[in-house]
Amino acid sequence: TGNVAYDPGFVNTANARSAITYIDGANGVLRYRGYPIEELAQHSSFIETAYLLIYGELPTPDELSAFDTRVRRHTMVHEDLKSFFNGFPRNAHPMPVLSSAVSALSTFYADSLDPFDEEQVEISTIRLLAKVPTLAAYAFKKSKGEPMLYPQNDLDYTQNFLRMCFGVPAEDYEIDPDTAKALDVLLMLHADHEQNCSTSTVRLVGSSHANMFASVSAGINALYGPLHGGANEAVLGMLNRIQKDGVEPETFMEKVKNKEDGVRLMGFGHRVYKNYDPRARIVRNYAHEILEKLGGNDEQLEIAMRLEEKALADDYFVERKLYPNVDFYTGLIYKAMGFPEKMFTVLFAIGRLPGWIAQWREMIEDPETKIGRPRQLYVGQSERHYPQR
Ligand code: CMC
Repeated sequence: TGNVAYDPGFVNTANARSAITYIDGANGVLRYRGYPIEELAQHSSFIETAYLLIYGELPTPDELSAFDTRVRRHTMVHEDLKSFFNGFPRNAHPMPVLSSAVSALSTFYADSLDPFDEEQVEISTIRLLAKVPTLAAYAFKKSKGEPMLYPQNDLDYTQNFLRMCFGVPAEDYEIDPDTAKALDVLLMLHADHEQNCSTSTVRLVGSSHANMFASVSAGINALYGPLHGGANEAVLGMLNRIQKDGVEPETFMEKVKNKEDGVRLMGFGHRVYKNYDPRARIVRNYAHEILEKLGGNDEQLEIAMRLEEKALADDYFVERKLYPNVDFYTGLIYKAMGFPEKMFTVLFAIGRLPGWIAQWREMIEDPETKIGRPRQLYVGQSERHYPQR
């Protein structure tokens, strides 16, 4: 096999030169295109951050308005795609429904999928940004047995999504500005995170020159796993169990530390952050404010805070440099907003979309890109012969 380096999990292997997101894991630093995440969370919007990630610079007011308008004009999906949702069982998890729907989108735009045609890449970018929230809301409505709502383009990105999720045709839906603002910030915090599992998947699939819809659909499936985006749903499952069974957080922590049944403290630990995840810090501050306003589950927030406090003072976690990650507190906020646990990872997917698109475009434009094709160390049988019976 020659000079093959063995690096399971790509812990020490870079697969890309990227100018999009910078992380300093030792110091808990995250920047999109050079801008600290804290500044963006305070001053920017999700749609502006999407522009920044994809095009590399903050937009001028005119550029932002043109981009925003363009996205708003593409929010509807083909009527035929609606019937697609009837093919799933009523209790279907919305993540596989979403990834299937995103994959299906490419069949409606089969004449504009050339990864090397700039205009086609541009229209695919806009279509994905615009239609994924609509598809996500359809998946949600389907699971509730409620009628799907058409997008309403006088609303901004996040407000439109909230209305499609929680509105009903019989009444006007009043958007709560605190909820919309909080969701917009949460989406922004998820917008990119360099070469994580789903983004690497998007790049790897795209490196075969598969189109953007196919690549993003694969990314959604990678995000679904509980060690990645699925962790936000798993955190709530963990808090629910602790609360329901009346387990003391201390007892639960002992189980984690003894690695009983492979139990992990979900929402803790990160491949790159060996310090407090800066996104988690922002979410943690928000959690108090939002839960107070929206009337969330205080007891679960209390449990989460006790788990965090115990973990940060415990040798097991200190030695391994395990800190809360972005998923630790987000679920509590999503729940207070009215989203069921099944939707949490879908919200992550909507947030991560600009990052996937930006990274896919960077990969396609990079002359150094080659088809992704890891090597292996073969440990199987040496040659043997088929028995002559
Ligand atoms: N609870 C208990 N122990 C842990 C945890 C945890 N959450 N995370 C890591 N460890 C231990 C692990 O058992 C290992 O111990 P030892 O050295 O004794 O074998 C050590 O810490 C190093 O862990 P690792 O699994 O080698 O680390 P990794 O970089 O491969 O995994 C991770 C990173 C995020 C998958 C992992 O920390 C984890 O499973 N966390 C829980 C799931 C989670 O919250 N995922 C969300 C990640 S952040 C955003 C996102 O991608 O969604």
